[in-house]
Amino acid sequence: MTTSNLRIACVMVGLPARGKTYISQKVCRYLTWLGINTKVFNVGNYRRKLYGAQQEHSFFDPSNPIGIKQRKESASAALEDMIRWFNEDQGIVAIYDATNSTKQRRQWLHEKLTKEHVQVFFIESICQDESIILDNIREVKLSSPDYANIDPEEAVSDFKARIDHYKDQYETVTEQNYTYIKLINVGSQVIINMIRGYLESRIVYYLMNLHTAPRKIYMSRHGESMFNLQGKIGGDSALSPRGVLYADKLPDLIKQNLGDKELIVWTSTMKRTIQTSGLLQYPKMSRKALDELDAGMCDGMTYEEIEEKYPEDYANRDDDKFNYRYKGGESYRDVVLRLEPVIMDLERQGNILIIGHQAILRCIYAYFMNYNQEDLPYIKIPLHTVIELTPKAYGCDEKRYKVDIEAVDTHRPKPNKAQTLKKKVSKPELSNGTTTNGALLGASGEIVHDIGSPILPISPQLWPSNGATKH
Ligand code: ATP
Ligand code: F6P
Repeated sequence: MTTSNLRIACVMVGLPARGKTYISQKVCRYLTWLGINTKVFNVGNYRRKLYGAQQEHSFFDPSNPIGIKQRKESASAALEDMIRWFNEDQGIVAIYDATNSTKQRRQWLHEKLTKEHVQVFFIESICQDESIILDNIREVKLSSPDYANIDPEEAVSDFKARIDHYKDQYETVTEQNYTYIKLINVGSQVIINMIRGYLESRIVYYLMNLHTAPRKIYMSRHGESMFNLQGKIGGDSALSPRGVLYADKLPDLIKQNLGDKELIVWTSTMKRTIQTSGLLQYPKMSRKALDELDAGMCDGMTYEEIEEKYPEDYANRDDDKFNYRYKGGESYRDVVLRLEPVIMDLERQGNILIIGHQAILRCIYAYFMNYNQEDLPYIKIPLHTVIELTPKAYGCDEKRYKVDIEAVDTHRPKPNKAQTLKKKVSKPELSNGTTTNGALLGASGEIVHDIGSPILPISPQLWPSNGATKH
């Protein structure tokens, strides 16, 4: 199968309140961030839409014929939409979020999907810890539309009865001819079977890094730097006097929020982030992957100087900021790829403070807060502000703490399209006859990447690609 027609359905398996939706959302966010067209199909949503949200536990009783019929119809409607999405929207990874707890249901899905040339990957979550299940019910199920305006205790006991109905017919995945992963007790044990493809193995690795322990992720840019004051981008300048004041205040701010809890601090390898972390009394690590987006030939210039000296580049960046690569430097797309291992590592961590840079923190923030590629390069990450993210069941809560020390504003708003078009240079012709956006071209006009293609290669490049034999 070639890269272009690779299609994978991740089919969730597990009793209710085992984190299937949580896992589905996380995998979807991760792959979407990597530019891989991914969508979740939640059968519960189809059931709510077709037959109403508020169904008592008896609806899920395997001896209730109406319930059986309506649940099967909901599953079919979701599956049909999913197959349509693969065919019409060039879907790459679909996540089919339902209990899929019988062999019969899995066989039905496997047959239908295989016929459509979709690879099927079962992801089963097993959890025997009753206290985790009860926490899950209280954290997410009580606020679901299924239990709107229902007394919480009544809702908990109805949901437990629902789980018991599923337990009556639950069959764990043992089908040796299927590709699957079993996550047991929130990943404390993992069993995998027949994982073959590159993308599947990336998903396995990602799932193995997930944990649900409560934690805070703090992000801050370095204190204001001398280059910030002069309006210059890039470089490796030291902090301005106001930046030093920010670094002085940072430890108290963190302490007030976190108390005596443990924290680790990551900085880039640049002076300004290391200096900002100077007074923090926590374990620290400098990571090259956190260095600011490399502005190449424009490093050390102001935006005005770039506009004057390289008007074409300036306009092209405004036209497609995510994909524009500075000559001799990087694009946001490049930065996302270099941050992928950082994200994996971040998933494993507890409380953490990342002292980074504007472009870097935009990319990391976009992963947690689900921003698309077009909006990502314009996310506001002001100086002298600590962003606190608290992971929750299906996303993150956010708080921002602005420290009372003035700093320059380095955010350039998104220009309106009309302005960009006026300035833009004519589009060069490609050899295949199509015109391309200037943002695709390198210094001498070569294509530097394929716009809209996944950032993470979805299958390894075959080498040699021209079919010649390898020497
Ligand atoms: P349902 O079948 O009712 O849709 P579900 O299995 O989709 O339930 P979720 O709605 O995803 O369950 O439950 C979310 C909760 O599960 C979150 O509080 C999250 O912390 C927790 N969770 C995440 N991963 C796991 C896991 N591997 N095992 C158990 N709980 C988990
Ligand atoms: O201006 C500060 C800075 O961190 C520069 O070093 C970097 O080039 C820039 O922000 C990234 O922001 P933008 O992508 O908006 O130019």
